Amino acid sequence: MKPVKVGLLGLGTVGTGVVRIVQGHQEDLRSQVGSPIQIEKILVKDANKVRNIPIDPGKLTEDAWEIIRDPEIDVIVEVMGGVDSTKPYILEALERGKHVVTANKDLMALHGPEILAKAQQHQCDVMYEASVAGGIPIIRTLIEGFSSDRILKIMGIVNGTTNYILTKMSQEGASYEDVLKEAQQLGYAEADPTSDVEGLDAARKMAILATLGFRTEVALEDVDVRGISGVSKEDIMYAKRLGYEVKLLGIAERQDEHISISVQPTMVKFSHPIASVNGVFNAVYVHGEAVGETMFYGAGAGELPTATSVVADLVAVVKNLKLGVNGQKTMVPYNEKKLKSDEQIACKNFLLLHVEDKAGVLAQITQVFAEYEVSLASVLQQPNADNPDAEIIIITHDASKASMDKVLKHFERLGVIRKVKSVYRVEG
Ligand code: NAP
Ligand code: HSE
Repeated sequence: MKPVKVGLLGLGTVGTGVVRIVQGHQEDLRSQVGSPIQIEKILVKDANKVRNIPIDPGKLTEDAWEIIRDPEIDVIVEVMGGVDSTKPYILEALERGKHVVTANKDLMALHGPEILAKAQQHQCDVMYEASVAGGIPIIRTLIEGFSSDRILKIMGIVNGTTNYILTKMSQEGASYEDVLKEAQQLGYAEADPTSDVEGLDAARKMAILATLGFRTEVALEDVDVRGISGVSKEDIMYAKRLGYEVKLLGIAERQDEHISISVQPTMVKFSHPIASVNGVFNAVYVHGEAVGETMFYGAGAGELPTATSVVADLVAVVKNLKLGVNGQKTMVPYNEKKLKSDEQIACKNFLLLHVEDKAGVLAQITQVFAEYEVSLASVLQQPNADNPDAEIIIITHDASKASMDKVLKHFERLGVIRKVKSVYRVEG
């Protein structure tokens, strides 16, 4: 049996896991695809670096083209990351008829349509299961499992680093900076962790999920993004007191053919299953018109969970190779993109206000909500020994983004409000 030859671009956290799984599960893989899978060459930045797996030094190269242009190699597995450095390799590999497996959400969110078009042109597969939610097979689920349904909402914890940070802040009162360092040491964070904490990594993943779920080409610019760097221990404490956990949620919604996609720290009611997704775990909740509510849960980052998805893609590519059907299963978005306006985007909101502690203040504040037709679900004044001002917590009913923006703008000129301390979307 002729082996299927793989060129591996990257031998970091994920690449190491890919080698371990391909080596460790070789017999199982061979039974499934009918031939051995062989990692032929591996691209690294520094071939002299000490590796934490035994690796034949003859397989390592610092020259990507040596792999891309090797006619013996059937499949490129890209786990090196980056966009500008990686894209030319992927495009040329496809032009040369090589199939591609990648864990690179940055590349797929920014250049997915171009890469998938190139793959179709050359009858190649491009699979990217590991690019969203690490070990959870959510991409295949959206493409195949829900092909018969019409998805109305996708809501996910799709960034492991930020969920790890928020969980440690909530459960152990740990500091944001300390936990971020820990997540970096554990290999969860991106090379530049700003894209984790500022929500960009989650936004890229939500653009990919929304494209697949709504069968509509969603671009990164369509995602409204806010990260967790502004979330304080105080916010988390208030949330818990009221029965909520703070989670960085990606939310994609569809209503009457119009869609909205956002990433933002959100207060999630304890009773919602997504509130109990902790640590580096990810979860994606999918609400389909016919199926109703479903939820998928698993490790969102880390060596072996991510590599599991990468190698599963590799198996799928090799099965297609045996059947001669590569490049025929690409999901091409067919719905016209219609984004919701700010009047159409609606949610419940939590507000923490620091206000002057005197008679009539509450009346002035509720008057502003009334003026912009925002209805209130609860209003609570909290004593705080450290704060001479009064602290008021307000939870609204569903209100449009347009109305909430007007309320917040009005608050800037309302003298009795010292500070709008925090504003969060509320789910559940
Ligand atoms: P990583 O640990 O930083 O590893 C990157 C690997 O690529 C290293 O082996 C590095 O070589 C090599 N490399 C990077 N740039 C290179 C260049 N210009 N030329 C040659 N080699 C280069 O990254 P990772 O965490 O494994 O992530 C890889 C990809 O998977 C990224 O797209 C990431 O977003 C995605 N991903 C990661 C996770 C996760 O849990 N880590 C989960 C899902 C998806 P050296 O070893 O010589 O430095
Ligand atoms: N940095 C990413 C995360 C890796 O924390 O989720 C997985 O994509």
